[in-house]
Amino acid sequence: MRDRTGSHDHALSHCARREKAGRLTFRIWIPLLCHMPDPYLLIAWHSRTGASEALAQAAARGAGSTGRLIRADQVRPDDLLQASAYLFACPENLATMSGLMKEMFDRCYYPVLGKIEGRAYATIIAAGSDGEGAQRQIDRIATGWRLRRVAEHVIVNLDAQTSAEILAPKSPSKESLDAAEQLGSALAEGINIGIY
Ligand SMILES: Cc1cc2nc3c(=O)[nH]c(=O)nc-3n(C[C@H](O)[C@H](O)[C@H](O)COP(=O)(O)O)c2cc1C
Repeated sequence: MRDRTGSHDHALSHCARREKAGRLTFRIWIPLLCHMPDPYLLIAWHSRTGASEALAQAAARGAGSTGRLIRADQVRPDDLLQASAYLFACPENLATMSGLMKEMFDRCYYPVLGKIEGRAYATIIAAGSDGEGAQRQIDRIATGWRLRRVAEHVIVNLDAQTSAEILAPKSPSKESLDAAEQLGSALAEGINIGIY
């Protein structure tokens, strides 16, 4: 029906358009929501002689099905974007984080900048005698991303001083592995109860 001004028809077609738009939104959003991954803890790691790898695996055990353990060179910006929280585990090499770990940050820094602000993170550094340099470096990058540290620094000192000790395969102590497992569990718990 059309009145003299056409406003009735106009109102009807407006309603119809809104209803159609609503149906479209519904059709677009529901499949998108269905494909959203469950929230997870990204455990990004690198290791040269085994210590950080064992610590990252222990953290993943603690995190259970909420944890995703990905070697640094396999981490893609999407893995960071989709994660709810992060655990970065690597050795200190020549007073900095190991090169492969740094390469992950270099590769992913700008693709995710501004998109992960406020998310939780923690770190585990394996060191021969120090570890502070690697720790500081990761903290600076995390500050650039505006991440939020939610656990104390963990530096696992393997007491490797000579070339032979430094190059030998490493197994962290049971206490260190237990602490890493507890950290993974606490981070996963934070995700599961919705605080991260
Ligand atoms: C090339 C190289 C450089 C290293 N530089 C340092 C260092 O600057 N500070 C330190 O505390 N440990 C240093 N280390 C010792 C490692 O951090 C230590 O052995 C650590 O446990 C190794 O972890 P990973 O087994 O996960 O590779 C270095 C080791 C290598 C191979």
